[in-house]
Amino acid sequence: MCGIVGILGREPVAMRLVEALRRLEYRGYDSAGIAVLENGVLKRVRAAGKLRNLVQKLSDADLQSTIGIGHTRWATHGGPSEANAHPHIAGRVAIVHNGIIENFKELREQLQHRGIQPESDTDTEIVAHLINVALEEGATPKEAVLSVLEELRGAFAFAIIFEGHDNLMIGARRGSPLAVGHGEGEMMLGSDAIALAPFTSRITYLEDGDVVFLTREGFEILDGERRHVIRPMQFTQAASLLVDKGGYKHFMAKEMHEQPDVLGHTMSEYLDFANGRVRLPELPVDLKALGRMTITACGTAFYAGMVGKYWLEQLARLPVEVDVASEFRYREAPLDAGGLSLVISQSGETADTLAALRYCKARGQKVAAVVNVPESTIARESDVVLRTFAGPEIGVASTKAFTCQLVVLAAFALAVARERGHVDAEREQELVRALQQVPRLVVQALEQEEKVAKVAHELAHASDILYLGRGINYPLALEGALKFKEISYIHAEGYAAGELKHGPIALIDEKVPVVVIAPRDALFEKTVSNMEEVAARGAKIVLITDEAGAMEHGAKAFETITVPAADPFISPLLYAIPVQLLAYHAAVFLGTDVDQPRNLAKSVTVE
Ligand code: M6R
Repeated sequence: MCGIVGILGREPVAMRLVEALRRLEYRGYDSAGIAVLENGVLKRVRAAGKLRNLVQKLSDADLQSTIGIGHTRWATHGGPSEANAHPHIAGRVAIVHNGIIENFKELREQLQHRGIQPESDTDTEIVAHLINVALEEGATPKEAVLSVLEELRGAFAFAIIFEGHDNLMIGARRGSPLAVGHGEGEMMLGSDAIALAPFTSRITYLEDGDVVFLTREGFEILDGERRHVIRPMQFTQAASLLVDKGGYKHFMAKEMHEQPDVLGHTMSEYLDFANGRVRLPELPVDLKALGRMTITACGTAFYAGMVGKYWLEQLARLPVEVDVASEFRYREAPLDAGGLSLVISQSGETADTLAALRYCKARGQKVAAVVNVPESTIARESDVVLRTFAGPEIGVASTKAFTCQLVVLAAFALAVARERGHVDAEREQELVRALQQVPRLVVQALEQEEKVAKVAHELAHASDILYLGRGINYPLALEGALKFKEISYIHAEGYAAGELKHGPIALIDEKVPVVVIAPRDALFEKTVSNMEEVAARGAKIVLITDEAGAMEHGAKAFETITVPAADPFISPLLYAIPVQLLAYHAAVFLGTDVDQPRNLAKSVTVE
């Protein structure tokens, strides 16, 4: 998703802007650019593709300006070309934008009636023109921005500079995130604290609707009602966050291997190992009286939610509906006031999930959020935050955030089950002990990497792959297929193993490998029957199972990957590992851009 940065500084800013943009690369982008005020005149350098293209162009530019804005663009309105790259300039205004202006067509027509013809296909350029028109009509920059904001519908974060104003930068946010950075005699804007980490750890997060006016000496904020407000300054740890690959070839590899650590860290927040108890922050609802619960999320976080449903229904006997957030918000689901909704999001900024959260709150529900970024909008707007401690996840393909979400959901389900009287102290202890073993067992699962890589190289030759799973491992089949397609660009689909014969089995022939996720649990024999159905039709089977499963049925598979045997309660946490490794090694083999796969963004802040 687009990334924004702005620096009102004391030294030349061009390369500092690039440094900040580099830290936003993880959000996904397809073009980049900066604009500065060079000797009082707006100068812009933009390039399609990666930041290195922009850097190359900048090397010829010799920019000395101390005020500038920069942007990494993930195309929404208009393709990923240089002409559509930000910043956009109209007259005396340069602007960068994250989000979507929904009424841009009407606004564009209004401009065209005035004889103004935009150069790009973007919604952002329209905003630059509107502000410039207001300036030409005599408004000050502040008045111009405030009046144009009134005309905009949609989601946005902006950073804006003005020709003739060397000591002014204006930021605004509605929907998309924006933070103010406080330097020594300089001020900044950024989509997040990580972007500003090289320059400051003092951050003020803007609230929805805020507009901020920065000078080198300070700043003032107006809220959505245009009242002066003071937002707190926080010291963030973003500066100390390791945004390097730690010796791995890709962030994704590093993040997969961090799982034993971050899972342990997340568990230590929610599990009291000494007493075999779960400890959760107090939930603002009477769990005993709860008739149902809703979980909403997108992508991988949605699959974590599906696993959560199995745990909550089996352990806590609580009916759970899981929805993809983009559907949930529009299907007008009836919700009981006083009920509980759970949203799950790594970034805490996903527009659809945020909208689902707001939908639930508007209907009187209490919202608990499983998020990885504690300062995020979703965290701030929820009643209770159940934080994952995965650390920054840079690879677009979610790995460690997913397994940390599973840990929080397992602890949550256990706490709800205890509260509702479906799990006694002894069973609680057993399940806490099972969870306690996860980091060690994940280390063992990661030790299979070499073997998994060989299998991945085989799969990399396929055009289509099916993933099958049953029960609580069905969401793992969906996650395996999502992971595979997003980074290797090979078509993959996940199915409930028993559903195959109702249609998808028609796809099977010797060219379609089938990955079967089947721990030796109560459903194993059933899944093996489904495996035999596809094997009989010539499919090459990759069986992911434990030692016992491999002994019994490994011979029927073309390849078998083993996962440590464990309590079925924790199996999704362990089977996630080979599923991630398979996708990763296929992508590396194929030479794709593993950490920033084409067309994808890390944080999807548009609908
Ligand atoms: O930040 P979120 O967890 O809300 O993001 C949700 C999805 O966009 C995300 O999980 C996406 O599906 C990942 N690329 C999957 O690897």
